[in-house]
Formats: sequence, C-alpha cells, structure tokens
Amino acid sequence: MAVLEIHTAGDPVLKTVCAPVARVDKKIKRTLKDMADTLYASHNGIGLAAPQVGILKRLIVIDLQDGTGLRELVNPVITNKEGSQIFTEGCLSVPNFEGDVERAEYVEVEYTDGRGQRQFLKADGLLAVCLQHEMDHLDGILFTDKAVTIMPKAPED
Ligand code: CO
Repeated sequence: MAVLEIHTAGDPVLKTVCAPVARVDKKIKRTLKDMADTLYASHNGIGLAAPQVGILKRLIVIDLQDGTGLRELVNPVITNKEGSQIFTEGCLSVPNFEGDVERAEYVEVEYTDGRGQRQFLKADGLLAVCLQHEMDHLDGILFTDKAVTIMPKAPED
C-alpha cells in the first residue's frame, strides 16, 4: 500500500499534457494500485488522475463509492458524446473550492484496463461527469478552468 502525495492547484504538473502509456507492465500496474490506495485514503474522492500524484501518464482510477467498484483506465479516449448536464464538481487537487461545470450528459470511452485489455464503456450521469473531469486532468485542465461558478466549499463536520 502506498498513498501518494496529491499535488494541488498552482503546481505545474497539473497543467501538463500527459504522455500515452505504451504497455500495461508491472510498473503501470503498481502505479494504478498506488493511485487507488491514494483515492481510498482521500476524503470523499471518487476519481484520481495520474498527474494529481505527479505522474505524467494517461492513467485514471475511478470509484464512485456506490458499490460499482474500482475502474482503472489507461489511455482513455472519448469516442462519442451527447447532451449536456451541469454538475457541482470538486477535486482532490482543489481542496477548498467547488464549482458548476457543464459537461456532456453521455459519453462513450475507449480505454485499456489494468490488465492490458481493450475496453469500451458507455456512461451517463455522475460516471460521465467523473470520466470527463479525470480525462481533462490528462490534458492539464482543471474543473476551475471550465466552471461557470466557483465557490468556497462549505466546511464539513
Ligand atoms: Co480532479
């Protein structure tokens, strides 16, 4: 188990376009595992992209914490999108703010999974939001770059 340090807004790693992964080898599998450990150690995180832990590779982990489990995505690409939705987003790299962001309501994503298998995913609702948010990280984009409103996060108990 390795919980990695999460880089926060202002750090240039979050503004960098990440490189594609050539092969899902042992090192990539270990990175995905460390990213999952980091996600689960976070407060209320549902997704994490590699640049958030300082690794400039096209890797994402998602767990909506709704029983659907961990998703590991390598080199994800949106192949189709439809509609629009506005959702109030937060980000582990922008800990003190949240904001309303308009994104596609429905996306289709092609990716390689954590075992190196090609996969195809159709998603709407929260999963679609999360996929688009995390994939933006791979291109150096934060939700605060797209938000129509940004507000301080309400303090939690
Ligand atoms: Co984020």
